[in-house]
Amino acid sequence: MNRTLALIKPDAIAAGQAGKIIDHILQAGFRIIALKMVRLNRAQAEAFYAIHRERPFFASLVEFMTSGPVIALVLEKENAVSAYRALMGATDPVKAAPGTLRALYGQTIERNAVHGSDTPENAQREIAFFFSEMELHPVEASILSAV
Ligand code: RTP
Ligand code: MG
Repeated sequence: MNRTLALIKPDAIAAGQAGKIIDHILQAGFRIIALKMVRLNRAQAEAFYAIHRERPFFASLVEFMTSGPVIALVLEKENAVSAYRALMGATDPVKAAPGTLRALYGQTIERNAVHGSDTPENAQREIAFFFSEMELHPVEASILSAV
């Protein structure tokens, strides 16, 4: 699996940083094969982050993720899941390595600008959550590439 699901979260969109984040992703050599901006409702945000249902931060996370639109992207690259996790940096922006998306654009451990799938299996599930087959484009048709 050379695909991963990325989200630009509501904090980064509200701060006007979506364009910079997309450019950063492209400059790192990822190809964008699908992209859309959507507003999640409560049930959708709860379903997307269902794995965290029992965590103390779950209600707050759902509140945050429904506070404004998110941009969903399907990225393609060799080892896309781990490569994009590395580009994002640690969950807490304070602990994220310098130059990573969360170090650059994250505000707090919750309002941390971006999401990325954590395994190829979850990437497949998360891509299907946001996109149908007709919205996934062959990489050679992608106009959103820096190379
Ligand atoms: P993500 O799923 O969004 O890519 O983030 P992640 O794998 O790095 O972190 P994860 O443990 O899956 O947590 C999901 C999101 O929940 C919020 N969070 N808040 N208040 C807290 O302690 C806390 N911990 C996590 C963050 O928005 C995190 O990205
Ligand atoms: Mg996660």
